[in-house]
Amino acid sequence: MSSRRLIIAVNFKTYVEASGDEAVSLAKICDDVAKETGASIVVAPPMPDISRIASIVDIPVFAQHVDDVMPGGTTGYVTLENVKASGARGTLLNHSEHRIKVAEIHDLIERAHQLSLSTIVCTNNTGVSRACAAMGPDYVAIEPPELIGGDISVTTANPKIVSDTVTTIRSVSDEVSVLCGAGVKNGVDVRKAIELGAEGVLLASGVVKAKDKMAVLLDLVSGLDG
Ligand code: G3P
Repeated sequence: MSSRRLIIAVNFKTYVEASGDEAVSLAKICDDVAKETGASIVVAPPMPDISRIASIVDIPVFAQHVDDVMPGGTTGYVTLENVKASGARGTLLNHSEHRIKVAEIHDLIERAHQLSLSTIVCTNNTGVSRACAAMGPDYVAIEPPELIGGDISVTTANPKIVSDTVTTIRSVSDEVSVLCGAGVKNGVDVRKAIELGAEGVLLASGVVKAKDKMAVLLDLVSGLDG
């Protein structure tokens, strides 16, 4: 198991169950669970909710995406500077549902470092994971697209892609932490992710669509203990 800090990153996507007031209450639940258990939980709410959430929780708030443009005459885009000013401490990049170009990933990782913003770069296979790890993000999150939103966790459906990604990334960097995601639902899935060498999980529907979100989060966090 890694000696790095293990994290659970919750992507709210654009689910109606996690937008506006619902986003605020989900973020508060994540904050409460983090405080109660000492676990590291990161939330990535919809862009319009970042500011409100960042002002009331202590856990890190991430953007789900940023555009590779500079502040100024770039109407309708979202810059790194925008999300930082809204209170975000980092951003997802290249999510499977919002892919960007390699050159943009590279540029955004570099500029995020300059702004002291963390980056979680999402990838779909070991080759892309290796390439993205070489760009020096804080995290690479391996998520097979076909398993996203499904009921079977990547750790059960394709454990090899997680362990292969960990091995591949370790061959290019000791600094980059590895997350895995897609179909992660419970503490057993989290424990398996850690056993496979990941330093945490990135998940969405398992939390966002749960009736009892607090119970699900407490169960997920229990998986970090090994
Ligand atoms: O960003 C997390 C994600 O794409 C996985 O989604 O719903 O399978 O946990 P989900």
